[in-house]
Amino acid sequence: MNIAIIGSGHIGGTLGKIWAAQGHLVTFGSRDPQSERMRTLLESIGPNAAAASVKEAAAFGNIVVLAVPGTEIERVLEEAGDLKRKIVVNATILFDGRSADAEVRRIANGARVVRAFHTSMWEALANPLFGVANATLFMSGEDEEAKQIVLRLGEEAGFDMVDVGGPEAMAEIEKALFSFWTALSPQFGRDYAIRVLRREESQPS
Ligand SMILES: NC(=O)c1ccc[n+]([C@@H]2O[C@H](COP(=O)([O-])OP(=O)(O)OC[C@H]3O[C@@H](n4cnc5c(N)ncnc54)[C@H](OP(=O)(O)O)[C@@H]3O)[C@@H](O)[C@H]2O)c1
Repeated sequence: MNIAIIGSGHIGGTLGKIWAAQGHLVTFGSRDPQSERMRTLLESIGPNAAAASVKEAAAFGNIVVLAVPGTEIERVLEEAGDLKRKIVVNATILFDGRSADAEVRRIANGARVVRAFHTSMWEALANPLFGVANATLFMSGEDEEAKQIVLRLGEEAGFDMVDVGGPEAMAEIEKALFSFWTALSPQFGRDYAIRVLRREESQPS
């Protein structure tokens, strides 16, 4: 697939590396596509990745992943231009009480918004396997077909994807995860993850 990733930091750079290695074509939409930092990132990924302006990257991607600070959502979506019918995957978080999910759904008019890749720390994104179990990532959205495509991208990248339903369900998950992280991080640092165990996959066949 052609994947645009807006933001080339911990989350964007990590996802870009994984998907390019899977054979997808990744273009980072960046404030400075020619920067030394970007050159180093692209060299570490190889020929399946490139960098461009936010507008050019968004035009390239069938899927446009948002991995910028939450405060930049409005600016990058404006710069991205027409996203109608594109799958916009929102990994951003806002820390000011507003919902980043609601913001993106409000601004990215006509896009097929999927909320995903924001429910673990980037360290677990970079390496989702913990012993024999892979990390669970929660996702949500209102477009079932778009969610299936994002779910497959997540599974290809090694995650246990759990579709929780729509935005209201995700808001509950986000609240719960925030409490988990606040309580657990003093003990476990950043490189830990949550895994949902389902009875049906634990049954002997
Ligand atoms: N880090 C985590 O563990 C984690 C976990 C869950 C969710 N998130 C969320 O995911 C999003 C990205 O997080 P991250 O950790 O990848 O952040 P990061 O490492 O700081 O990277 C953010 C990227 O966004 C771009 N950007 C655009 N405008 C920016 C601005 N004004 N200031 C800084 N960067 C700007 C930059 O790429 P260019 O220079 O190429 O434009 C930058 O590399 C955030 O909304 C964060 O809350 C992060």
